[in-house]
Amino acid sequence: MKYAATRRALATDCLIVARHRAKAHAEALGAGPQMAALLAGTEAKAGNAASLHLSGRPARLLVVGGDAAATTAAKFRKDMAAAASALANFKGAHATLCLDDFAVARQDAYRNARVALAAISTATYRFGRYRSKNKPLKLKEVAVQSAEDAAAVRAVRHGQALDAGLALAKDLGNQPPNVCDPAYVAEAAGALAGARVRVSVIDEEQMAELGMGAFLAVTAGTSRPAKLVIVDYRGGAEGAAPIVLIGKGITFDTGGINLKSASGMQDMKFDMCGAASVLGAAKAAIDAELPVNLIAMAAAAENMPGEAATRPSDIVRTLSGKTVEIMNTDAEGRLVLCDALTYARRFKPRAVVDVATLTGAQVVALGAHASALYANNEGLARALARAGETAHDRSWRMPLWEEYQSALDSPFADMKNIGGRPAGSITAACFLARFAKGLKWAHLDVAGTAFTRKGSTGRPTSALFEYLLADAAKA
Ligand code: BES
Ligand code: MN
Ligand code: ZN
Repeated sequence: MKYAATRRALATDCLIVARHRAKAHAEALGAGPQMAALLAGTEAKAGNAASLHLSGRPARLLVVGGDAAATTAAKFRKDMAAAASALANFKGAHATLCLDDFAVARQDAYRNARVALAAISTATYRFGRYRSKNKPLKLKEVAVQSAEDAAAVRAVRHGQALDAGLALAKDLGNQPPNVCDPAYVAEAAGALAGARVRVSVIDEEQMAELGMGAFLAVTAGTSRPAKLVIVDYRGGAEGAAPIVLIGKGITFDTGGINLKSASGMQDMKFDMCGAASVLGAAKAAIDAELPVNLIAMAAAAENMPGEAATRPSDIVRTLSGKTVEIMNTDAEGRLVLCDALTYARRFKPRAVVDVATLTGAQVVALGAHASALYANNEGLARALARAGETAHDRSWRMPLWEEYQSALDSPFADMKNIGGRPAGSITAACFLARFAKGLKWAHLDVAGTAFTRKGSTGRPTSALFEYLLADAAKA
């Protein structure tokens, strides 16, 4: 969607107003009595939208919110979601949101606008390229009208960038696995290249030279070559240490020789959503020209069974030098990530955050509402949790206690790649933690949040972008 900021109400097809101001707006347009009738016939409840059709321009007044002038952040979010889904079915091309109508507790004009734009991005996203009958959106542009000019302009710049980042993340997630393979992920990342952005790809030959035995073990059973994709954006001060984001990019996870059941495999095209979200966050940061140095890495591979596939009990040497007994080939995400984590050290990062649809156990623990957050650093954990709250793309901190580590003990190698049924998301994080020693590191297990049966949610792209924005504001 295209967003704009405007000071005064310009010619628009649909004006979005708050209920407590609806009469005043309608009277100014000569439709006071009709509005009075509409208000009398509809309930003032958060999440309800009502609309009044007019003969001129605007052709419609979209009314949301309660009767009181002040509202809460949660209610406002519901109101904006209601307005956005009404807009998505709207026949007109242009809409304007009267931002000044809304007074939200503990939220400024900038945040109000961001919340509204986020709702519109969610409601207007489409993935229709494989449908023969495809109804395109009529809506082309949404303007935010506010007397607080600077706040609206900034919110539109950031909201527009995030809209594009989210669309990239969702598109990559929604693409079928016969199209979106590791080479496709590399190509999509390549499109981000530009003046301050270098994109490079480590292929299997280079992985072998480097000694990425864990990464290569995952891709052994497929004919589609693995790629470790690196997007290097230098928007910050020259020489300043970068933030590194690493995403799990398993373009299809069959489980390998530890083959998944049919029902367990259905959603596994989404097993690259971690990679999609870090590329989405990078796109948003680049579009917003954030003053940060950022490296986004996508660890892309397909996990297939086959004659050459890795066997349960195979032992491999990781890039770190540590050996891993692969007791379950379906615990493949941590294998590509451990080598990517080790590789990230060469960037001398200020912080490393990996994102992965890593475990079914995370879904059991937190469901679809919160990603699992792990960190070996309090400040980083707090910053990510706060960013998630702000973006309403939440995560919940989980423990990385030493006591969990022994679940990974192996009689034959430095560690196993599985820790058994109990605390599966935690022991997966514990595996990664062994490769993050000395780094300021966090891990988001997004197995339950990154997608639904209806498609990719783009999560945690919004939280990551908010984290980068907050970081850039500190600098
Ligand atoms: N990609 C899956 C995890 C997953 C499950 C993501 C459901 C999204 C929805 C991962 O590679 C996997 O298979 N994990 C195993 C680990 C186990 C073998 C230790 C799991 O969670 O069962
Ligand atoms: Mn798996
Ligand atoms: Zn997986």
